[in-house]
Amino acid sequence: MRAAITAVSSYLPDYVLTNKELETMVDTSDEWIVSRSGIHERRIMKEPGKATAFMAAEAAKNLLKKRNIQASEIDVIILATVTPDYQFPASANIVSDMIGATNAWGFDLQAACSSFIYGLEVGSKLIESGTYKKVLLIGADTMSSIIDYTDRGTCILFGDGAGAVLLEPTEEQVGVMDARLYSDGAGRKYLYQIAGGSLKPASAETVAKREHFVKMDGQPVFKVAVVKMAEVAVEMMDRNHLKAEDVAYLVPHQANKRIIEATANRMGVGMDKVMLNIQKYANTTSATLPLCLDEWEHKLKKGDNLILTTFGAGFTWGGIYIKWAYDSK
Ligand code: UT7
Repeated sequence: MRAAITAVSSYLPDYVLTNKELETMVDTSDEWIVSRSGIHERRIMKEPGKATAFMAAEAAKNLLKKRNIQASEIDVIILATVTPDYQFPASANIVSDMIGATNAWGFDLQAACSSFIYGLEVGSKLIESGTYKKVLLIGADTMSSIIDYTDRGTCILFGDGAGAVLLEPTEEQVGVMDARLYSDGAGRKYLYQIAGGSLKPASAETVAKREHFVKMDGQPVFKVAVVKMAEVAVEMMDRNHLKAEDVAYLVPHQANKRIIEATANRMGVGMDKVMLNIQKYANTTSATLPLCLDEWEHKLKKGDNLILTTFGAGFTWGGIYIKWAYDSK
């Protein structure tokens, strides 16, 4: 028995933050941002009282409608996020309450930009155990809540959004076929949030020093990301005897268009086989992969081979090979 994605959906906030608007906020230019990252605009959650759990719940509601099932049928909710509404309780619990998933237990899972792919591995194993029939995996992040809009090195890169997939058991030769996840904590100093955890709790000083925002040393992250995303994608192909022509789509984490192009190049697949929406949504951290899947769903056919790959803070990275389980209607 395998776990298959049987439905996918997403939610994006309405507000569009363009490169032009960022030019009025920090010393940057549309030309610089596009040439270095591929990003033109990103969505920002501006409505007071609405953040990660809200976006995740909206994505989940869309999914339930599409799949025509009740929230009470969900067994488990995994919320992949680095920006939960609160440190505790888990935002998965809030989502469960918002959508009425009265029979579900759930938890938040955090592996930075690899959160969704880690969640997919965990959710798949819960299904494969035979104990659970419907696992709702949501990737959602309100990156704007932890971005320093005075830091041009990071504020151009991130956006807000949510995407959800439903995992169900299948006896067919489709679904999550293989996964290889990695982490290396030695990379933590290049991309992290300095304060707000148990090591450095919030204080007037941490706020004054702007230590609750994302801090990134972009170049070292780029250098490792470009190697590891490509390596793990090729590893997935080799392990599963897939040639470039067997791959229907590469589904890469959307952190930088140059990293994505390098990954496709190493795999030998053309950009026509790459799900790319970084230009519209930037890096939504845990939401990039399900946002891609939702946008491309109408093109996907049962049996299509997809290679999912991510790289993120930690460092964390990984690849998952999926045989798509259904033709979209
Ligand atoms: O999703 C998690 C994983 N994250 C990533 O994978 C992100 C990895 N890193 C990157 O994508 C890239 O490193 C960036 C897009 C963040 C930066 O691109 P880069 O080509 O590595 O530029 P850089 O950091 O080497 O900066 C080059 C120059 C610097 O100026 P000097 O020192 O050469 O005078 C920066 O100060 O560009 C400057 N710069 C900017 N200029 C205009 C940095 N940010 C900006 C900006 N606008 N927004």
